[in-house]
Amino acid sequence: MITEQFIPKKLDYLVDTVSYKWQTPSNIALVKYWGKRTPQIPKNVSISFTLNNCHTITSIEFEKSSDNKKVNFELFFEGKKNEAFKPKIAQFFERIKVYCPYVFEYDMIIDSSNSFPHSSGIASSASGLSAIAMCLMSLEKALNSNLSEDFLKKKASFLARLGSGSASRSIEGPLVVWGKHPDVDGSSDLFGVQFPFKVASVFENYQDAILLVDKGEKQVSSTVGHNLMHNHPYAAQRFIQASENLSEISQVLQNGDVDTFINIVESEALTLHAMMLTSNPYFILMKPNTLQIINKIWEFRNNTDSKICFTLDAGANVHVLYPEKEKEIVNQFIENELSKFCQNKQFILDFAGNGAKIL
Ligand code: DP6
Repeated sequence: MITEQFIPKKLDYLVDTVSYKWQTPSNIALVKYWGKRTPQIPKNVSISFTLNNCHTITSIEFEKSSDNKKVNFELFFEGKKNEAFKPKIAQFFERIKVYCPYVFEYDMIIDSSNSFPHSSGIASSASGLSAIAMCLMSLEKALNSNLSEDFLKKKASFLARLGSGSASRSIEGPLVVWGKHPDVDGSSDLFGVQFPFKVASVFENYQDAILLVDKGEKQVSSTVGHNLMHNHPYAAQRFIQASENLSEISQVLQNGDVDTFINIVESEALTLHAMMLTSNPYFILMKPNTLQIINKIWEFRNNTDSKICFTLDAGANVHVLYPEKEKEIVNQFIENELSKFCQNKQFILDFAGNGAKIL
């Protein structure tokens, strides 16, 4: 495959100590990635809105190492030394070492924090791993000044994907496609690409209110869920459906047909959870309040001319999506009618943003 292009040919180790800090966002998929094969290759195409407010800020201090046989790093999370997340990051370095041989040359101090409350049920792997990937790419650029901005983003997404699939969609914004698809030129299973078409004005600054229904640890991790798509009785049909939905949503995003958008997005959310319900072993990540909220949203849409809709990720939280011009009325509705179904009435107001930022 074309992974060769990501192996650096020549690096000049002229830098001894350097530090970079990046802010990278979370994202919410409209067409969902669910099912993968080694090494982190998706079974179907996905597309997501990049978020603006939900992000991770990560700095990495690189210092020339005296022991270049293994990858040495320390991890701080929200200001405290963290051992619990270390294995996941160590596995990430293991996967990327051929593409980033410099991880052996430098000792790293990684310092990371999230804008959203820890254990809010918002997956921090997408923003967390994309932030590390951007810091690594800043170092790579310092070791090889010939790298173009375009290559830098592509490789950052490629690296982030090896950490967590959905992280590949957290480098750019506001809409990113990951997975090869005939309708999207340049799309790839290896990295995310910006949605290449002009988007109808109704989808600009699209709003996403994240309702925190259940902040507890998930009973089944995404990785386990993805694996259950092997030998899943409906998998083959699901992967075809995702590809068809991508074609349709691509048209909809361009022509501004919000009703069809709602139909695809809600169906994708429920199909994702239907895959979980019909896996073996089967599992349920939605909670009673998830369903209460969905019903309230449907009721509100039926009784008003609102274009509000919902999507779900691999958990109980509900993402409420709506056009910017409905912001006031929908935010009121959330406050008055939906927040009571959230843990401690908590929700986060966000909207589609532009991706990674250096600080
Ligand atoms: C339901 O990216 O968390 O949010 O690749 O194993 O890290 P790994 O999985 P992850 O899966 C996300 C699944 C999803 C849908 C999506 O974001 O497309």
